[in-house]
Amino acid sequence: MTDQTKDVPFSFGIDVSNATLEHYDNHIKRHLSEMAGQYQDQEVYDALLTQEDVLLYEVYETQRPEVAGELLNGLSVVHPGKIGDEYFMTKGHFHAVLETAEVYYCLKGEGVMVMETPEGDWVVEEMRPGRVLCVPPRWAHRSVNTSANEDLVFFFVYPGHSGHDYGAIEKTGFRKLVVERDGKPVIIDNPRWHASRG
Ligand code: F6R
Ligand code: ZN
Repeated sequence: MTDQTKDVPFSFGIDVSNATLEHYDNHIKRHLSEMAGQYQDQEVYDALLTQEDVLLYEVYETQRPEVAGELLNGLSVVHPGKIGDEYFMTKGHFHAVLETAEVYYCLKGEGVMVMETPEGDWVVEEMRPGRVLCVPPRWAHRSVNTSANEDLVFFFVYPGHSGHDYGAIEKTGFRKLVVERDGKPVIIDNPRWHASRG
């Protein structure tokens, strides 16, 4: 493998069964405590948090300069589980530079990507192994693991200057929530989002 600190081409493997990258220099771990206000069932959230600050998802990245021209990429692993009837999911974000896109390639597990624009359009797209998901510019995105026992694993690529804007989602959540009903994922309205729009 080549030296990735230099601007020369390099390659690395993805270990799909162990859900990790052969090479990474940044490992982000997101726990339940970082999802305050995102889950509908506040009582269940609080009760679980007093027991354990559960690890919800992880991101492995190869760090590159955050500038236009670069393509940032890495692996996300969303663990299985639920808070009440809502599945484990990522925080979700708009890109700070709204007019930047992202591509996801699902490697393992089952889940959905919940997306919306600042104007309130929404789409929920299925993620399963072998499927590519294109998130166009302007669409906030959150991945949700709908499996009872398997990690949701996907590779992502996005422009180096995109940045992340978590603020709007932290305030109101996404327009739609994905919850389990009779053992299956269903999409419902998020009352908090609607309340925020008056
Ligand atoms: C990058 C991107 C993914 C997510 C990752 C974690 O733009 O969309 O790499 O960052 O899946 O999700 P967040 O960032 O929402 O916690
Ligand atoms: Zn993104």
